[in-house]
Amino acid sequence: MKTKVLSAFSIGVVLFSSFTFQITNDNPKALKDAFKKDFLIGTALNNSQIDEKDATVNDLIKKQFNAATPENIMKSALIHPKWDTYDFTMADKLVEYGKKNNIKINGHTLIWHSQLPNFIRGIKSSDSIRTFFTDHIKTVAGRYKGKVFSWDVVNEALNEDGTLRNSVFLKHLGEGYLADAFKLAQEASPNTELYYNDYNNEQPAKRAGCIKLIKKIQESGARIDGVGIQGHWHVGKIPLKDIEESILEYSALGLKVMFTELDIEVLPRNFQGADVSQRMANSPEMNPYANGLPENVQKQLADDYEALFKLFLKHKDKVTRVTFWGVNDGDSWLNNWPVRGRTSYPLLFDRNNQPKPAYFKVVGLK
Ligand code: G3I
Repeated sequence: MKTKVLSAFSIGVVLFSSFTFQITNDNPKALKDAFKKDFLIGTALNNSQIDEKDATVNDLIKKQFNAATPENIMKSALIHPKWDTYDFTMADKLVEYGKKNNIKINGHTLIWHSQLPNFIRGIKSSDSIRTFFTDHIKTVAGRYKGKVFSWDVVNEALNEDGTLRNSVFLKHLGEGYLADAFKLAQEASPNTELYYNDYNNEQPAKRAGCIKLIKKIQESGARIDGVGIQGHWHVGKIPLKDIEESILEYSALGLKVMFTELDIEVLPRNFQGADVSQRMANSPEMNPYANGLPENVQKQLADDYEALFKLFLKHKDKVTRVTFWGVNDGDSWLNNWPVRGRTSYPLLFDRNNQPKPAYFKVVGLK
């Protein structure tokens, strides 16, 4: 009899503890709920996610995120494929998706030197570049007036040393194109937040260039609401001091600060940043974790994410959004850049949409 009571008690304890474990480990708060009072939590969305092709991924997006940025479909090559032709199909779907699921959409991006339509290459006259520039901003920003929360008006206009990138826009329009882009966006979509977005702009030289650029936009009388630090960093090498200084310096300009494309690379690379034109040769050493991520790297990744979110929380009065560049490891651009066909692990959810140790560390801060 005594034995029976004891074993019933033990089963109860086991059941109770596994229930407690479920609550604390397997079923923690969703990201967007955990950071509800602090900042928005976003993700980049690709076509298949916008089309809701995979029910598990779709549930994950709706549960975890309250902001989204299109990974590609609002870039000029896709949304404006010919001189007088626009293709709004996927962008319209994204806007509907956001509305339906209470997800704020950040348009990405109006003016970027990369992913330009092919016809731009054939243009030789500055007048025609000016016409493209003006029509593109008016048409795209105008269509989504009141429908997107914000725009990355200009993306990646700076070199690493803080000077202006010699893009087709700088060459033909001069540096005034930056302020002009913000003025045109403001006219086309007056109540939308307008941002400048770049990678490595937490690094001192590029940051100084970014501050100069922002001040010029402000001095021109154009409105700029925020600056995006993309946040494509590398495991074990998160530049926390530079990031903190950047949050303080950008916010001192009266701007909101956002981390707009966050991911942490665990694979080898011999340079920093996110210039999509940079490539490296493939070799087995370049793809070391094809069969799984070693525990020590997994732990480092979790520690890095925890340190980053601690910093974001410390400055939650200045940081308004943190967006991951992808939903799960399987759809990250880092599987194909700067080497094609690698197995990368940069996000909080694994290839099976399961939360990784980094996720628990981040949510555990709340
Ligand atoms: O859609 C075509 C497909 O039809 C074709 O078969 C395939 C063959 O390569 O390419 C597909 O297009 C690719 C596209 O992603 C969609 O997957 C392009 O080649 C590829 O260059 C493109 O890469 C994107 C990259 O920007 C360049 O635009 C990445 O997905 C996207 O994550 C990345 O995002 C950028 C941000 O916009 C700006 N900051 C840096 C960040 C990372 O590079």
